[in-house]
Amino acid sequence: MSSRAQVKHTRDRENPIAVQLKRMSKTYKLYGTEHQRLLATFFPNVPHAKVLANDNLSMLIERGESVALLGGNGAGKSTALKIIAGITYPDSGSVEVNGRVNALLNLSAGFDAKLTGRENLRLRSQVQGIPEAEFAKLLPDIIEFSELGVFIDQPIRTYSSGMKSRLGFAYASSFDPDILILDEVLAVGDKAFKSKCLVRMKEIMALKHITLLFVTHDMSAAQQFCQRGIVLDKGKVVFDGPIAEAVAFYSER
Ligand SMILES: Nc1ncnc2c1ncn2[C@@H]1O[C@H](COP(=O)(O)OP(=O)(O)OP(=O)(O)O)[C@@H](O)[C@H]1O
Ligand SMILES: [Mg+2]
Repeated sequence: MSSRAQVKHTRDRENPIAVQLKRMSKTYKLYGTEHQRLLATFFPNVPHAKVLANDNLSMLIERGESVALLGGNGAGKSTALKIIAGITYPDSGSVEVNGRVNALLNLSAGFDAKLTGRENLRLRSQVQGIPEAEFAKLLPDIIEFSELGVFIDQPIRTYSSGMKSRLGFAYASSFDPDILILDEVLAVGDKAFKSKCLVRMKEIMALKHITLLFVTHDMSAAQQFCQRGIVLDKGKVVFDGPIAEAVAFYSER
């Protein structure tokens, strides 16, 4: 964490801005071994390489916009979304997020493999500060949507990756968020579940106030759900405009 970065989360319905990044940068440190990574917590001089995952990113997203983040592997899309979701912290620049965020990021990560599906859902809702009563009311729907059956009470380590993504999507899409962040959620589920996800995304998007930040390598899904596309390359914004132009720009690179 650096004092040079400013991160502000608010929930002000009068404010037309949902997300604003100003010259936001994030560097990851890479160590040769796990041992060196541990040592580095005590000794700042342990040799390491640096990856500039987000390089002076600026963007302004208004409430109700649906925006696709496009870009090749390693372009910095997931890093930016993690920062917006408050899961990781930038090194410099400023981040303003206005509204309750529901983020479905790395599908398997975030679940505790030892705990059951049900226990993981409860844990996640507690971390997000969702009131117990609200969670209890939504739980039957989440479980039903996930179609996990008896597996909901089995430890997550017994789940396939598609099953983890079902649970993650069912949870993330159940609350009525102001800002919905979906990072490659359609990549793992089978065909039947994917179409069910698409239907639910359409339902959520029909709620006028929702802001969607959507990462996908599926250009037709991007065009179906988003009006605007931001293309990242090596951590920088290289295009920001209407989705059809963004897809064309990205496809020609
Ligand atoms: N936890 C981490 N530790 C070290 N480096 C990381 C970490 N997470 C991401 N990176 C690096 O940051 C850069 C951006 O990664 P990021 O995951 O944001 O890319 P992405 O655009 O989401 O790619 P993809 O399409 O493959 O998901 C990459 O070079 C990656 O190796
Ligand atoms: Mg990613």
